[in-house]
Amino acid sequence: MSDAPRLVGFEELSAAAVRDRLVARRAEFWAGSMLGEDAVLALHDPIFFHQLGGFGAVALTGTGTGTDAGYLLGVVSADRLAVVHALAVHPDQRRRGLATRLLTRFATLASEVGARVLQGVAHPGDDAVHGLAGRLGAHAAVSPGHAGPGEDRVLFTRSLPLD
Ligand SMILES: CC(C)(COP(=O)(O)OP(=O)(O)OC[C@H]1O[C@@H](n2cnc3c(N)ncnc32)[C@H](O)[C@@H]1OP(=O)(O)O)[C@@H](O)C(=O)NCCC(=O)NCCS
Repeated sequence: MSDAPRLVGFEELSAAAVRDRLVARRAEFWAGSMLGEDAVLALHDPIFFHQLGGFGAVALTGTGTGTDAGYLLGVVSADRLAVVHALAVHPDQRRRGLATRLLTRFATLASEVGARVLQGVAHPGDDAVHGLAGRLGAHAAVSPGHAGPGEDRVLFTRSLPLD
């Protein structure tokens, strides 16, 4: 039997409990990120778990309740963008394809409800996100002042469905 983490949709979990767990371990999950503490906390606004969590998933290792290994929060917008809001994999589980699996799951679900483009936003110079996006065949475009004056970001877009 494979010991790869299993992906579990938020609809099978308690939104409050899973949010509490992930926020408590944010320093682990977001190690190496270019985001500061406030930005990481802001990503975990309860609305992304309670109201907008339908496309979200957690990767769990082990049996029973399991141990969190990674997660994705995402939404599909009215103009059919599948937006990756947050994606993190525990350092012990990185470079094993887990983020790719979480993204593929989200992209598939989003395609099924009509999304036409997968989109994510990152800091310029975020090598991990650039590498991940490149692996998925995403197009990168700098968005000047995206997050405020002088706060440029890179928008990654990939047409859906994934091949
Ligand atoms: C970015 C992140 C989610 C990648 O998770 P992961 O499970 O390690 O990614 P995958 O194993 O699916 O990687 C797939 C490919 O992406 C690229 N990639 C992943 N991490 C990379 C890195 N640190 N540097 C360069 N390329 C990277 C590689 O091409 C990789 O394939 P390979 O391992 O065969 O070379 C993880 O590093 C992380 O959680 N970082 C902290 C949180 C964060 O910054 N999240 C993104 C912003 S929302």
